[in-house]
Amino acid sequence: MEPAKEEGISVQDEAVDKSNFKNCNHIAFYRRQKLLHPGKSLYKALLDSVTLCNDSVTLQIINEKKKVSLLVEIYAIEGNVFRLKINEVSPLKSRYEVHDVLIKEPTTQRLSIAQKEAGILVLTCDHEDHKLHITANPFQIVLESKGETVLSVNGNGLLYFEHLQPPPQNSKSTAQNKEDTPTDSSQENQEDLSLWEEKFGSFLDIKANGPSSIGLDFSLHGFEHVYGIPEHAETLLLKNTSDNDAYRLFNLDVYGHKIHDKMGIYGSVPFLLAHKLNRTSGIFWLNSSETLVEINTKAVMEHVPCRSPPDVTKQRVVPQTDVRWMSESGIIDVFLLMGPSPFDLFKQYAQLTGTQALPPFFSLGYHQCRWNYEDEQDVEAVDAGFDEHDIPYDVIWLDIEHTEGKRYFTWDKKKFHNPKRMQELLKRKKRKLVVIIDPHIKVDPTYAIYSEAKKKGYFVKDRKGHDFEGICWPGSSSYLDFTSPEVREWYADQFAFRSYKGSTDILFVWNDMNEPSVFKGAELTMQRDAVHHGNWEHREVHNLYGFYQQMATAEGLIKRSEGQKRPFVLTRSFFAGSQKYGAVWTGDNVAKWSYLKISIPMLLTISIAGISFCGADVGGFIGDPDPELLVRWYQAGAYQPFFRGHANIDSKRREPWLFGDENTRLIREAIKERYTLLPYLYSLFYRAHTTAEPVMRPLWVEFPKEQETFGVEDEYMLGNALLVHPVAEQEITTMNILLPGSDEVWYDFRRFRRQDCPGTLKIPVTLESIPVFQRGGSVVPLKTKVGRSTEWMTDISYELRVALDSKDFAVGELYLDDGHSFHYLQKKQFLHRKFTFHKKVFSSSCADEIGQYHTKCVVERILILGVQKQPTSVNANLQDGKDKEVVFTYDITTSMLTLEKLLLNIGDDWEIHIM
Ligand code: NOJ
Repeated sequence: MEPAKEEGISVQDEAVDKSNFKNCNHIAFYRRQKLLHPGKSLYKALLDSVTLCNDSVTLQIINEKKKVSLLVEIYAIEGNVFRLKINEVSPLKSRYEVHDVLIKEPTTQRLSIAQKEAGILVLTCDHEDHKLHITANPFQIVLESKGETVLSVNGNGLLYFEHLQPPPQNSKSTAQNKEDTPTDSSQENQEDLSLWEEKFGSFLDIKANGPSSIGLDFSLHGFEHVYGIPEHAETLLLKNTSDNDAYRLFNLDVYGHKIHDKMGIYGSVPFLLAHKLNRTSGIFWLNSSETLVEINTKAVMEHVPCRSPPDVTKQRVVPQTDVRWMSESGIIDVFLLMGPSPFDLFKQYAQLTGTQALPPFFSLGYHQCRWNYEDEQDVEAVDAGFDEHDIPYDVIWLDIEHTEGKRYFTWDKKKFHNPKRMQELLKRKKRKLVVIIDPHIKVDPTYAIYSEAKKKGYFVKDRKGHDFEGICWPGSSSYLDFTSPEVREWYADQFAFRSYKGSTDILFVWNDMNEPSVFKGAELTMQRDAVHHGNWEHREVHNLYGFYQQMATAEGLIKRSEGQKRPFVLTRSFFAGSQKYGAVWTGDNVAKWSYLKISIPMLLTISIAGISFCGADVGGFIGDPDPELLVRWYQAGAYQPFFRGHANIDSKRREPWLFGDENTRLIREAIKERYTLLPYLYSLFYRAHTTAEPVMRPLWVEFPKEQETFGVEDEYMLGNALLVHPVAEQEITTMNILLPGSDEVWYDFRRFRRQDCPGTLKIPVTLESIPVFQRGGSVVPLKTKVGRSTEWMTDISYELRVALDSKDFAVGELYLDDGHSFHYLQKKQFLHRKFTFHKKVFSSSCADEIGQYHTKCVVERILILGVQKQPTSVNANLQDGKDKEVVFTYDITTSMLTLEKLLLNIGDDWEIHIM
């Protein structure tokens, strides 16, 4: 619950009141599914029903006990992905299937039947070395790649499917709840199974369709490291779950969420990744209703055939992770991603759900937010404060108090009397404004957004067909039904400059409270029996609500610029595919060291689930950080994808200059470091956008064969070149850093010292330290100076940091475009440069001939780390064929060669020869 002063609810200092939220045992479909225990599946495949279609294989399976059938569809999708859909053969009414998350209908490959006999069906696909072994009784599918068993489906017999039934005569009676048993559970006890109604505290959920839950288990063979399924304030490595403690995917507004807890918080991405030494695989469970995931990693005996004597098998112990997915409703629609490398897996997932939108360049700068900047004078003063203290920043944010009584798209006339003037001032300073736009709409017939939406029937309805009303910031509110394409279109139009009075082209948007948050609702969200477009109950689409709001908002910003400008939209609630629409943040964290620490695995988990543009509130939203924590948080945030300072309404002011000169200096340094790093960061975002590589990545992604990296969550890689280990402990003077890779060379990013022996390194730490190491073999593009904001930096020259590996080689790249339009796509106006150091020649060449972009910007300085001996001379061969001598210095203690005053155009081809 958020501090709602108007509501008379006391302001909590921290930590969630968990009694507002369900634990697994409160969830009826979980209780029902848990009555089905691992063992022989109740389902049997009818192999006579197998049909080979152009793009799939279908077959029926039957529940032996209930004699009801399900239709199974199996698809092989281009790029090593399989899709399995299971639905009722002829449901009483259609069951919800998720729309708009897959970017297109996936391209399928032909499957063929390799074998069909004695209760076994073997399918192969045309080009790949994959086999699917389908056993008829019990029904099970085993996926094999190049002879290796990777994954089995229903191996523990936990396939569960509640067929839609006609409502009982007297659906109000709880007796019915007790008497009716779900199709699959054979419980003898008379537990209340909440089939048609379910209570939580004083809240009653009436289920128009009765029980409709689904579930399935998967075994990941040989895997003991599993990741993903954000969002939880938990470790990077998923933990084994126990009864009543499954990972919950249910988007909720959890103020001061508890750390190390599997409860659902703001966002959900039902994508799980598994990694072992030779393979990475994934399971993408495409379902937007409440979902619970159980994990059980264990050791199993495996039989391995002996070479001699033949026909004898040996046994060995191998790990296996069993994953059980359970959802409240919908159909089973699951994608099995076969990797085999981590980067293959990211591509496969992006091929389904899309890649990270390329952010406008300014949004990679620093963002200054608080709840609230009071008025125009406050905004002006804070803006000026950054200049006075020589701290770069790009965006100032306005929270809910800027509006007229929490009516979004309006301005408080007293405090923000002339918003256009304020934006003009910011624009002159080359800065931007972000304002909050929440999904709830104040019930007020004089408020145009409300009255128009009401007239058009654009609000979510309650089960009786009236507009749903709940309490949020403005008091009584209705909620726009973003699941409707028509509502989204109308909403997008509200961002047009002529509609949104006082908005200008430097105004961008923050979507908050879009789980959706409903203060007096069960679990502080919308009741599940509310009704959306197409007559779908809220329970079906719950986890998609925020996804759709961000989608509509991003479309609105694109539209208002007539398709010219990239949008920036931050959302709190998200789902698989939200990466296409902008950025996410981790919500209401607390100004405590433990929250700084957990932000790293939380952001890593979100990143590997496809959403690269993510961050946590710097400083911690709730409470007041002491200066040391604040400084450390800035230092950490400077190396994370989305970098925003934010504070609660009750928190003391914490603009970077309020903590004494020394702390101001340290924060300034951290923010400046971020700004010098922007060319590298933007290039990483281009990669995320084009090839689905996460910007921030766990060590195991870069070092998939180094077992010691698999559980590391206190450090990470930013791209493939920088290893970052933020200081997240109070008052420490030393820390251990793992520099992975047996033949890697690492360099201290600031002191340039070379580390030839990877392993765990103990380093001294002062308040200045931001431990970052550059990997040998990489080139990192930086800016030589910073400006007041990104827009002031366009013409500032580059520095290239070249770090040689053990073979004296290095490679890297730079992506560059106008930073705000779609011309990089539509007109191919971009530069993609490649830098290579090989055999003592450093060269700049074109990485993508298609792109063209004119810039006068030059490379001024090149630092080459790991040069063994002092050169006698250094020469540059320019694009026009001319040669020029290069001024250099060599530092023997760090083996660093510095080339200065180069003035080589960043867009030109040139070579530097070191003699
Ligand atoms: C909750 C958000 O998480 C927080 O960032 C924001 O300041 C408040 N809502 C007020 O809008």
